[in-house]
Amino acid sequence: MPHQKLFTSFTFHRSQKQMHNRIALAPMTNMQSHDDGTLSEAEYEWLIRRAKEGFGMIITCAANVSKDGQGWPGELGIYEDKHIEGLTHLANGIHANGSLGVVQIFHGGARSPQELIGVQPWSASAHEMPHAKVPVQVRAATIEDIHRVIEDFVAAAVRAEKAGFDGIELHGAHGYLLHQFLSTTTNQRTDEWGGSNENRSRLIRTIVQKTKAAVSQHFMIGIRLSPEDKYTFQGIDFDESLQLAKWLEEDDIDFIHVSPWEALKKPEKYLDCEKFLLEYFREAIPNTPIIVAGNIWSGADAEKALELGADIVALGKVAIGHANWPTLAKDLNFQPTQPPYSVSHLEKQSLGPAFIAYMKRWKGFVEE
Ligand SMILES: Cc1cc2nc3c(=O)[nH]c(=O)nc-3n(C[C@H](O)[C@H](O)[C@H](O)COP(=O)(O)O)c2cc1C
Repeated sequence: MPHQKLFTSFTFHRSQKQMHNRIALAPMTNMQSHDDGTLSEAEYEWLIRRAKEGFGMIITCAANVSKDGQGWPGELGIYEDKHIEGLTHLANGIHANGSLGVVQIFHGGARSPQELIGVQPWSASAHEMPHAKVPVQVRAATIEDIHRVIEDFVAAAVRAEKAGFDGIELHGAHGYLLHQFLSTTTNQRTDEWGGSNENRSRLIRTIVQKTKAAVSQHFMIGIRLSPEDKYTFQGIDFDESLQLAKWLEEDDIDFIHVSPWEALKKPEKYLDCEKFLLEYFREAIPNTPIIVAGNIWSGADAEKALELGADIVALGKVAIGHANWPTLAKDLNFQPTQPPYSVSHLEKQSLGPAFIAYMKRWKGFVEE
């Protein structure tokens, strides 16, 4: 029966946390936090509206774990205890509406602008940031930087649990610090943090292991991964990504969130093969819940992703334009309107002015 699975509940086996359907809100930066990283009412409204409208899991935008890991102004912070109060308000609101709440935590690494963080950005290896408007010199991480950032990730997860969230998602995708360590383009280290896939994966695996030791068993630790090269994010091999996923399954991670920007695609490395990218992941990690995001618009797209092996779909752009997607998608004939959306439509979808201004920077998203 079509659309049957999307509206069934899902239980994460390690934590026993339950989602009332298979629909998650994808993590989306919305530039609405206060300058000090504390939560704003506009950000609360945008997320809580989606919890109210039936999304089974709300994943926040990327929140920075260290002060020098901020990626842009108006970003949500989780690097100090002062952030816990706003996060608690958010977690309570999400739970009051029956959804699970997950904070996406990250460090920008090379992609944290110096003018924002006040110090030189750092990454796995020293390099000049490619594709930057003005040349940016990035320094290589010292061993102290690596140990400090591990502690910062762990402390951020502890804050998320204190605030009442159900889990965290490590942002290992889209070219930020954890991705920079995985990538052979940005990681040319010759110590234990670079070189082989095992060494390049060490930062992520260490964070997972140390976080596990610091939070309760019911608190979920997931990760978002870019499985292959995309846009300006290079240096990721598909088979190495599958291997990393297998290691993370051995490490008993709660979920892997695959972010190929196109959920229903074949891997670039194996375009001539029969199998879809999701099927490779399903085979590699039979026992780990998989979330997938990327150009899922209709209920039929979502069902197809579930058929290919995902357990949960995460919705980005369509969820910005349709706060009530979970209700709309129950109609088998529902076809969402595509961007551009008018400003008044976006206001009705609970986007505040800062978010709408940001979406104007996404080509073709907001009507001129
Ligand atoms: C406005 C906007 C902000 C985003 N911010 C984040 C982010 O903070 N963290 C992240 O992992 N992905 C981010 N993404 C990527 C989305 O989570 C999602 O993977 C991507 O948009 C593809 O899904 P979609 O086609 O349903 O939009 C963002 C996407 C959009 C449109």
